[in-house]
Amino acid sequence: MAKLGVNIDHVATIRQARGGVEPDPVAAAAIAELAGADGITIHLREDRRHIQDRDLNLLRQTVKTKLNLEMAATDEMINIALKVKPDMCTLVPEKRQELTTEGGLEVRANLASVKQAVERLQDGGLIVSLFVDPDPDQVKAADKAGADYIEIHTGAYAEARDWKSEDEELEKIENSIRLAAKLGLGINAGHGLNYTNIKRIEAIGGIEEYNIGHSIISRAVLVGLDRAVRDMVELINP
Ligand code: PXP
Repeated sequence: MAKLGVNIDHVATIRQARGGVEPDPVAAAAIAELAGADGITIHLREDRRHIQDRDLNLLRQTVKTKLNLEMAATDEMINIALKVKPDMCTLVPEKRQELTTEGGLEVRANLASVKQAVERLQDGGLIVSLFVDPDPDQVKAADKAGADYIEIHTGAYAEARDWKSEDEELEKIENSIRLAAKLGLGINAGHGLNYTNIKRIEAIGGIEEYNIGHSIISRAVLVGLDRAVRDMVELINP
């Protein structure tokens, strides 16, 4: 049975919009776990646009399932990960101006440096996953880099706007799953997955854990709004 890791970055995005203390991603993580999440994922970005160091430190103490830290393979982030010790580190590319992670990690072209980052984290006892496009060259490079897991970037599949390109992207994902399984890599997947497009991916099988954020937080805002408004109406007009 596939597992669900809930990415709570955008709870922090809402908090940062006001720079205050709510909503607190630590509370969101606890609710997600109570609802059945198998893990909590956060991305501590270099610019700290949503998740803060405080969140990482508190979540390390409070998460009862598994804490997956998405991070760039920089010295700063590697040192933080070695200190905080999340249950998994997922290395992602990071560009300052991007709205969200745009592509998979370019492992093949940067094999030596990625391998070094993987080794530093593993030497500290950490499990390392590499976020890669569903491309056989990148999957093979992830294996050569010594990764424990890959996370297959499902963004192109999620963004496909017609059946033909969706089928093509799905085939790439399926081939990458087969290849990674043959190489003995653990296989996660994520990015852009939602309540509709998850079905065709899950039908392939072979994915251990999905990391899903934006669509879950978006749904939470809509399904929670009715209750939130009713509560305020009740306070104003008891
Ligand atoms: N996996 C990785 C590596 C990501 O960078 C992200 C986005 O932070 C996700 C999964 C979750 O993507 P989404 O928010 O589109 O569900």
